[in-house]
Amino acid sequence: MTMPQPQSAICAEGGAFGLFLTLFLADGDTTPVRRVLAALPHMTEALAAQTGEPSLVSSAAIGAACWTRLTGRECPDGLIPFAPLSDGTRKAPATPADLFLHIHSARHDLNLMLACRVMGAFGPRVRVVEEVMGFKHLGNRDLTGFVDGTENPEGQERAEVALVKDGPHAGGSFVSLQRYVHDLPRWEGLSLSDQEAAVGRTKESDEEMEAKPPSAHIARVVIEEDGAELEVLRHSMPYGTTSENGLYFVAYCASPEPFRKMLERMVLSSGDGHHDRLLDFTRPVTGAAFFAPSADWLRALV
Ligand code: HEM
Repeated sequence: MTMPQPQSAICAEGGAFGLFLTLFLADGDTTPVRRVLAALPHMTEALAAQTGEPSLVSSAAIGAACWTRLTGRECPDGLIPFAPLSDGTRKAPATPADLFLHIHSARHDLNLMLACRVMGAFGPRVRVVEEVMGFKHLGNRDLTGFVDGTENPEGQERAEVALVKDGPHAGGSFVSLQRYVHDLPRWEGLSLSDQEAAVGRTKESDEEMEAKPPSAHIARVVIEEDGAELEVLRHSMPYGTTSENGLYFVAYCASPEPFRKMLERMVLSSGDGHHDRLLDFTRPVTGAAFFAPSADWLRALV
């Protein structure tokens, strides 16, 4: 059997601009919202064709709390609300949201145009929780100045990491998101070698350091199980203004487990006594979990 078609934003290379919307579903009849979700793959392709911008892609994802009410279908195994974490002053909060809409492309204007069309079609049945515009910064660098995304899966591996292989939800993907707010003045107060020790890679040349402290970001999130590294497909992007900025972290995965295990090793020191040094300079202010069904599954919603 061929794999159902995934939603287009998931395996595509990240565009220069991204739009991330978390949404609440209003009480009442959910049929109109289902119709819009079913039409999203076509709306995206139509706008891409109309504007000659094939990089315009989207994905919509649904949270556990509204899954059954909205879809009337069986909830994907493993889809549960984001569980908050806390260790001393380090917190990874859970923030409520029913839906997640992710759009990316080479053009911010088209991302916004598509988002406006989708929100217009939803009408009052859906309310915005948070809307964040992401952008590529100095190539693929996070606002900390370090290249982000180097070890992301590439080519065919992206689908292997991100997509559920079989069962009723094949072609879908578990989505984890967190908006991080950086304390850049404090980060920039660190010496270059302290910054590199916090990340575990060199800043300019983006090479993995051979000797890195156990608190380095890379040392926290690289986890081997049965001889294989746990992997997620990241679509994170820098965002913000002069008054608040950071990283909008988004991961797609065939299972919710790898993200959870990585985040626990970042936040909690209960394992080996260490936490992620990056978290002394950036803090997550949102956290939510969703499932992005395949495009075929969405189309069949009506
Ligand atoms: C790698 C930054 C949050 C998972 C990296 C790299 C940077 C980075 C600079 C190295 C380059 C690369 O391979 O992409 C950040 C920042 C974060 C953040 C600034 C928050 C503000 C997270 C979170 C997770 C995560 C929350 C998962 C829970 C990973 C993974 C890698 C990575 C899996 C690749 C590791 C490898 O295979 O070498 N991150 N990250 N990151 N990060 Fe993060």
